[in-house]
Amino acid sequence: MKTRVFCQLGLVALLAACSGEQASNPPAAVIEQTPERQVPEEFITAQDIRSAASNNAEWLTYGRTYAEDRYSPLSSINRDSVQQLGVAWSFELDTNRGQEATPLVIDGVVYFTSAWSKAFAVDARTGTELWRYDPRVPGRYGVNACCDVVNRGMAAWGDKVYFGTIDGRLIALDRETGEEAWSVETADPELRYTITGAPRVIDGRVIIGNGGAELGVRGYVSAYDSESGEMLWRFYTVPGNPADGFESPAMEMAAQTWAGDWWALGGGGTVWDSMAYDPELNLLYIGVGNGSPWNHEIRSNGEGDNLFLSSIVALRADTGEYVWHFQTTPAESWDYTATQHIMLADIDINGRERKVLMQAPKNGFFYVIDRTNGEFISGNNYVEINWASGLDPVTGRPIEAEGIRYKDQPMVMMPGPLGGHNWYPMSRDPATGYVFLPTQNTSSVYSNSGSMEKNNVGWNLGQGPSSQPIRNPQDRARSQALTPSSLIAWDPVTQSPAWRVDYPVYGNSGTLATGGGLVFQGSADGVFHAYGTDDGVEYWNREVGDAILGGPVTYELDGEQYVLALAGQGGAIPLTMGLLSGNHPRYMNGRLIAFKLGATGELSIPEPTPPEPLNTDITTTRGDTLAGAAAYGSYCSVCHGPAALSVGSIPDLRFSSSILNQDAFMSIVLDGLFASRGMASFAADLGAIDVENIRAYLLQQAAAVPR
Ligand code: HEC
Repeated sequence: MKTRVFCQLGLVALLAACSGEQASNPPAAVIEQTPERQVPEEFITAQDIRSAASNNAEWLTYGRTYAEDRYSPLSSINRDSVQQLGVAWSFELDTNRGQEATPLVIDGVVYFTSAWSKAFAVDARTGTELWRYDPRVPGRYGVNACCDVVNRGMAAWGDKVYFGTIDGRLIALDRETGEEAWSVETADPELRYTITGAPRVIDGRVIIGNGGAELGVRGYVSAYDSESGEMLWRFYTVPGNPADGFESPAMEMAAQTWAGDWWALGGGGTVWDSMAYDPELNLLYIGVGNGSPWNHEIRSNGEGDNLFLSSIVALRADTGEYVWHFQTTPAESWDYTATQHIMLADIDINGRERKVLMQAPKNGFFYVIDRTNGEFISGNNYVEINWASGLDPVTGRPIEAEGIRYKDQPMVMMPGPLGGHNWYPMSRDPATGYVFLPTQNTSSVYSNSGSMEKNNVGWNLGQGPSSQPIRNPQDRARSQALTPSSLIAWDPVTQSPAWRVDYPVYGNSGTLATGGGLVFQGSADGVFHAYGTDDGVEYWNREVGDAILGGPVTYELDGEQYVLALAGQGGAIPLTMGLLSGNHPRYMNGRLIAFKLGATGELSIPEPTPPEPLNTDITTTRGDTLAGAAAYGSYCSVCHGPAALSVGSIPDLRFSSSILNQDAFMSIVLDGLFASRGMASFAADLGAIDVENIRAYLLQQAAAVPR
C-alpha cells in the first residue's frame, strides 16, 4: 500500500524502485496520478540502497549498505599510496558535546548531524556549507541523555533526509534546501525518551527507535511514512501492563517471561542504535537494549528471561510483525544491551554457505546467528569476561558464573556497563572475511539496592550500597591490569582474533574497511590510523586533535578517493575513563575532516590548558560529604564525571567557583539557572539539604586536587 503511494510520486526513474508493485498495478493508473513534480536527479530509491555496495561515489545509508558492512571497494588509497594522504578540507562545528555521526555522501554533498541533533549539508569537494538546520532542542532535555546529547546520523530517501532529535522528534528535511518537510513526535514528551541513533529507510518507511532505559521507559521501534510522516507501525520490545491488553501476540508471549509489576518501571528494552535489513528475506533486524531498572531482582522479582531485553529481534519490515528473536543475555541485570552493531554477510562455515547475522554486544561474546531463523551458529568471547564460562553449544545461552546476580553480595563484573564493545561501528573486509571490532576492557561493581523508588530526574538502576564486602575484589585488579582498548580483526568463522592493535588509553572508535587493503580507525588520544586489513600493520597515521568516534566513510569524486571522519569526544564517563588511563583530551568543538591523496591542509590543534585549583578555605558547609557523594553519584556523575573528575565540555565541578557560594550553587542546581545550556533543575528529586550535601562532597574533592 505504502509503496504504491510512493510510486505515485515517481516518474520513469522510479519504476525500478517500484518494480514489485508495478507488475500488479496497471501503469495507466500510476501515470494518471503522477503529480506535476520535478524529481531531483538524485532521487534515492530502494534500488539505489540495495545496490549501494558497488556505488563508490556515494555513501547512502548509515552502514553503507543494508547489510551494514562498512566496506568500500575503493582502492586508490592503499598501502603504497596512503603515505600521501593529507587534509583536503575541514569543517568546524559549533558544539563540543560529542560527535558520533556517520556522514552520508550523495551526489557530491555530505549530510551529517552533530551534538544537540543539528543537521548540516556541506560540499563534498570543498567543505563549503550549503545549509544547516537546528531543531532547537530545549537545553533541559540534555538531562535525559544518558551518554551526552549525541546523534549518530541521518537516513536518505527520495529527495529528503531524516534524523531523530534528543527530545524524541523525527524530522524530514528537503535534501536540497534543508527546509523542514515534516516533523513528528515519536515519543510521549512527558516520558524520558531520547533519540541518538540514525534512522534507516526501507521502501519508503523511515524506521526509528529511541533510548532512555536508565530513565524508566518502555522500548519500541516505529516506522513512519517517508512522505507524510504518518506512523505506519510500532513494535514494542517489552510487554506493558497486562491489564491494558497486549499489542501483539509477541507481547503476550514475552509477558510469560516477566514477573511482578515490571511495567511500573518501564521495563526498558530500548532500540537505541543498531538495525540491519535483508531485502530478500524482507527481515528488519533490531538490537534491543537493557532492562529498566538494570537490577533483574527488582525489575522482575528475579524471575524469568524478560523477553525481548538484550535480544536481536527479526521483524517483517513492512508490518513490524515479530518473526524470530535471539536473546544474548537472558534475565539481563548489568546493562548488557544487544544494541551493538548488527552486520549481515553470507559466509562459508564448515563447507556450507550460511546467511549470517553477526553481533558483538556489550556482554563480551561475538555471535554468529543464522539470520533466516535466529538459530545460534557459534559464539566466543572477544574480551576477558568473568560472568559466564562460555555459551551452550546448541542454544548459545550463556553458562553463568556464580554470584553474578549480586543478590546478597556486590560483585565485580567484567565487562561493566560500558561493555566489551559499545556502539562504535564495526566493518568487514570481504577478502579476509575479518570483522574489525573496536573493543574495550571494562569492569564495574554491581550491588543490590533491595528496593527502589522511582527517580524523576536521575537514573533508575536498582543499584545501591551494600554492607557486604565485594565477592571478588581480585577481579577488579585483574581488570585494571588489562589493555584499556583494542582494535581486533575478528575471524567469525574460527571465532578468534586474527590480529589486534592495543591502545594504551581507554576509548574507542568506529571503523571503515576499504578495497585498498586498509582499515581506518581513530583512537581516543586524537590520532587517525590506517592499518593493513590482513596484517594489522600501521601504514599511516595523522594527529587530528580529538577522538573520531563514529565510523569514517569514503567516497570518490572526479576520480579522487576521499576519506571523511567526524572528530569530537563527548560524554563524561568515557572522557573520565580516558583521563584515568592517561589520556588528556583537548577542549575543542567537533570538526569534520576530509582526507585525500596529495592534499596538504593544516588542522589547528589547541594545547590542553589545565584548570586552576580552587581555594576552598573561603567557604564553609555543614553538608554531609558521604550523603553528598551518593547523591552526586546518582544525579550528577553521568554528566560531570565519576568521582567529580571530568574533562571535556561539561564542567569539572572541582574547579567551578560556583561551589564556593551556597546561593549560587543552589540557584544552578535547584532553580535551573543554566537550564537553557543543558544544566537542568533537579528540584523534582533533590531538596536544599541534598544539594548542600553535594556541595560539601565537591568541596572535599576540590580540596584534594593536587597543587
Ligand atoms: C545531563 C547532564 C548534566 C547533569 C546530569 C548535571 N549537569 Fe550540571 N551542568 C551540565 C552542563 C552541560 C553544564 C554547563 C552549562 C553551561 O554551559 O554553562 C553544567 C553546569 C553545572 C554547574 C555550573 C558550573 C560552572 O562552573 O559554570 C554546576 C554547579 C552544576 N552543573 C552542578 C550540577 C550538579 C550538582 C548536578 C547533580 C545534581 C548536575 N550538575 C547534573 C550538565 C549536567
